[in-house]
Amino acid sequence: MIQLGAVILAAGKGTRMKSKLPKVLHKVCGRPMVLQVIEAVRAAGIEKMVAVVGHGAEEVRQALGSTVEYAVQEQQLGTGHAVQQAEALFVEFNGAVLVLCGDTPLVTRDTVSRLIQYHQEQRAAATVLTALMEEPAGYGRIVRHPNGTVAKIVEDKDASEQERQIKEINTGAYCFNSGELFSALKNLTPANAQGEYYLTDTLEILQKQGKTISGMVIQDPREMMGINDRLQLAEAEAMMRKRITENLMREGVTILDPATTWIDQGVKIGADTVIYPNTVIEGSTVIGEDCLIGPGARLVDASLEQGVEVQYSIVLESTLGAQTTVGPYAYIRPGSSIGQGAKVGDFVEIKKSVIGNGSKVPHLSYIGDSFIGEQVNIGAGTITCNYDGKNKYNTTIGDGAFVGSNTNLVAPVEVGPGAIIAAGSTITKNVPGEALAVARSKQSNIDNWVSKKKKRD
Ligand code: UD1
Ligand code: CA
Repeated sequence: MIQLGAVILAAGKGTRMKSKLPKVLHKVCGRPMVLQVIEAVRAAGIEKMVAVVGHGAEEVRQALGSTVEYAVQEQQLGTGHAVQQAEALFVEFNGAVLVLCGDTPLVTRDTVSRLIQYHQEQRAAATVLTALMEEPAGYGRIVRHPNGTVAKIVEDKDASEQERQIKEINTGAYCFNSGELFSALKNLTPANAQGEYYLTDTLEILQKQGKTISGMVIQDPREMMGINDRLQLAEAEAMMRKRITENLMREGVTILDPATTWIDQGVKIGADTVIYPNTVIEGSTVIGEDCLIGPGARLVDASLEQGVEVQYSIVLESTLGAQTTVGPYAYIRPGSSIGQGAKVGDFVEIKKSVIGNGSKVPHLSYIGDSFIGEQVNIGAGTITCNYDGKNKYNTTIGDGAFVGSNTNLVAPVEVGPGAIIAAGSTITKNVPGEALAVARSKQSNIDNWVSKKKKRD
């Protein structure tokens, strides 16, 4: 096996995005586009990757972390200049180097693998990934020799009238032999319409040295679509979304309406789970088998075991045990852990709380900063009063406790296992296990009060 490496260009500003955020950090289905490119390259088996950063370098580094090495391009003097900045990180390297742009998020592992393979089969010094386009304006054009090998790439702005007619374009992805790449880069000059050091000129330089330059045509040019503005961002998002839902369906997930189902990259869903319409599943969410999700669900960084049902509800950064049901209209906020066979019913908000196996919070409750044991029943309208305006306090409820409807639990407070709280109580003191707590004013009835009042009036 020869050594494989990649350079990912991510130094450009992306002026047309009109954004404070560097272009390559804009997300497509939840993942920054440069990360999509990196994932595709990594999936193709390439470990060594160098990101060339410039605009917003700090932010890009933060987003990518230590998964790649970095080269800094202080001034954006062109794509060739950008790749040159990575040279120092390839001194002990001898093999094939891919060059990809950080703004082509739809590139797939298959294409990356095929490009490397084609490059090797052709025994080329450089291979460019090309596409046939009906409207090639704006792209570099591929000029081929009669024998099919590539003579050069000419940029749109530098092209002659005749060259502009060429419909085969440069997608901006390449595979080079490392030695030849870095030696050719040293011969670049900015003598062109944009006054830039063009990476594309390395092909002509190598060709003139008698080396073979090949061009591999991609089947679906949309895959190499570069994102320059928010309209293209939305287009890429739609294509990626389709890809994600199709992959999940192939793996045994039922998606009733893919058009209204939005699932991020990286979400995992088990077989025989059914996703109803108008559902958004984001981040690192993992869903087990046989779940029913939606309609109208939003799950963010959630973890669901098998057989969970979530309808018309929001679950953020929380876990739901097997066979638990949530909703309709529940709101589970970050840091919550709901056990197995539990129920979080309608109009219930749960925040940073643990709810044990088999426990039920069926209606109209707020449970915050609480530890609720197993087989607990929380009556309708129960509220944990966890906040005194300054600090938050915990509520603890033991296994098998029964909390009557419309109870206020003024935290910090503990209710022991098996205790019963009478409906309408405001609990301010701990309740021992197995005790009955009644904390409400006594009812008094005044006989015939109504008829007497009527006579008086
Ligand atoms: C480039 C190609 C063109 C191809 C097109 C495909 C060159 C000279 N031209 O043109 O043949 O058809 O891509 O989309 O390469 N970048 C840097 N530093 C720089 C300049 C660019 O990091 O100094 C990065 C940009 O952030 C971007 C990528 O390189 O990710 C491509 O740069 P861009 O200016 O968009 O190239 P094009 O003019 O589109
Ligand atoms: Ca340019």
